[in-house]
Amino acid sequence: MYYPDELIEDIRSRNDIVDVIGSYVNLKHKGNSYTACCPFHHEKTPSFHVSRERQMYHCFGCGVGGNVYTFLMEHENLTFPEAVETLAERAGVALPEQSMSKEERRRADERTRLKEMNKAAAGYFHYLLKTDHGSNALEYLKKRGLSDDTITKFGLGYSDKYRDDLYKYLKSKGYKDNELKDSGLAMFNEKEGPSDRFWNRVMFPIIDPNNKVIGFGGRVMGDAKPKYINSQDTIVFDKSRNLYGLNLAKKSKRRGIIFCEGYMDVISMHQAGFDNAVASLGTALTVGQVNLIKRYTDRVFLAYDSDEAGTKATLRALEIMREFELPARVISLKPYKDPDELISTEGTEAFEKRIEEAKSGVMFEIGILEHNYNQDDPQERTEFQKEIAKCLSKINDPLERNNYIESVAKLYNIEKEPLKEAVTVFGVSGKSNVDMSAFADRTRRGSPEQEKKKESLKTERILITWLVNDNSLIQPVSEYLTPEDFVEDLYRDVVRMIYDSFDSTGKIEPAAIMDRYYSKEEHEELSSIMQQDFGVEISNEEKSGEITNLVKRIKEKSIKYRMDNSIDLNERSKLIEEKKAVGKIHINLN
Ligand code: UTP
Ligand code: MN
Repeated sequence: MYYPDELIEDIRSRNDIVDVIGSYVNLKHKGNSYTACCPFHHEKTPSFHVSRERQMYHCFGCGVGGNVYTFLMEHENLTFPEAVETLAERAGVALPEQSMSKEERRRADERTRLKEMNKAAAGYFHYLLKTDHGSNALEYLKKRGLSDDTITKFGLGYSDKYRDDLYKYLKSKGYKDNELKDSGLAMFNEKEGPSDRFWNRVMFPIIDPNNKVIGFGGRVMGDAKPKYINSQDTIVFDKSRNLYGLNLAKKSKRRGIIFCEGYMDVISMHQAGFDNAVASLGTALTVGQVNLIKRYTDRVFLAYDSDEAGTKATLRALEIMREFELPARVISLKPYKDPDELISTEGTEAFEKRIEEAKSGVMFEIGILEHNYNQDDPQERTEFQKEIAKCLSKINDPLERNNYIESVAKLYNIEKEPLKEAVTVFGVSGKSNVDMSAFADRTRRGSPEQEKKKESLKTERILITWLVNDNSLIQPVSEYLTPEDFVEDLYRDVVRMIYDSFDSTGKIEPAAIMDRYYSKEEHEELSSIMQQDFGVEISNEEKSGEITNLVKRIKEKSIKYRMDNSIDLNERSKLIEEKKAVGKIHINLN
């Protein structure tokens, strides 16, 4: 993707973001930004903001954001060069034809080659499974009830015990070290040299709907931890937008798609004839996966594990499905742990029966609620019934809602009329209860460690937001903080660009800063920092106190970090001096 930066910037500046987005989305002018219901997630109240001043957009509900290029890439599913082309044409800018198509071809070639390498690896793993080296692995799969047919259909394999077995094989096929690194199949350590990511594991190739191998899962054959290792995300593998088994499930004649948790569950179900099963790849269900599945089906079944984690995952999945208006039913697996266990103990017909008996999402939720309340206690019973009403109020279709009220009333022995009334009451407040920001939050939340790190980076983000909002702060802040004082790489670079741009032009252009970044994550992060407006008018004195505080905190953290990482006595004594000076920091505004 190589166009000169100036050209990209020129094209961007000729395409006003409000005009461009306005041609796809119905924007309303509000204050100094334009708002709309977000085109990237379902919502009823607008949280999607577009700023003409900053030439950026951001959704406070689901977190998407970026500049005019990002918008086209996300909304129209374009690659970066395609977005550049589209906007160049719109603004009547001529593009250097050849260099572009060459570059585009290079990237496409890179992807094709990676997929070919994955295919070669899958072939090699599968071959090993049939040799003496793979005899334990084959025995393991047989013991788990898999037929030769199934093993072939899923292309299962075995990764050998040697630390660089696959590496050597792929090298012999002409793949280069940098390609091996990009594929995530090999890891490079300066001291120990190259090594394979997967050793001595049963291998599950992950195949996309176009039948290309995009990644792998690998399982230990005993009880060692971790049970599974998966490929990292690469230019051809995005876990959040793929589903294991979809290459086969998309051809199924069965109605709907069955979602489950594990590789083995998918395989067991397919072997038993339920060839419409897929699994998300070791993560909670994502919006990207639901978007993907909507292309193939109009209804889903959830067959998550029957333990507490599985039940939670089911409730969350139901909520996402509801937002995407995809009817979902829940298959009960009890007393078995997962579909694999149920099928291998009770067989195909038993599972077929479970599918027939699958409860609708609403009835499943109500069933879960029931256990939380003591039905013999009048007060708890009332609370239970209120919760039921809340649940039922989420059903949009009035006929469907009525039918559910009827069956629930019968099932739980509740008078129909009062229940109906309660549902109506919640219907009003319940609507605003379907808060998309909470939904977005949940689907976007990372691991606890990530959350902690995020928390500690808040100060840096807030300060950057201030700098973007009020450029007169840049000079005084830069007297105390260098870009190196910022802990997070991304923030450090952004501050460097803010300083540079202010130095040379006396202003900053957030959308231009964004052009330096390509990943969706970075664009979302940056737009959320730069689009944020504190929306409060405070006095200069208050502002000066606030900024002084932020600067001090960042400086302290930076000093502490360098202190922890330095053994040089000279430097340490310098740091001690710096630390003493922190108290004297004062940002003066006039
Ligand atoms: P489970 O622990 O339920 O395993 O994880 P499973 O699929 O039933 O596998 P078997 O039957 O024990 O062989 C469900 C899914 O979560 C992901 C994998 O995708 C797995 O299939 N997972 C699990 C990991 O990615 N890493 C792990 O260490 C464990
Ligand atoms: Mn299992």
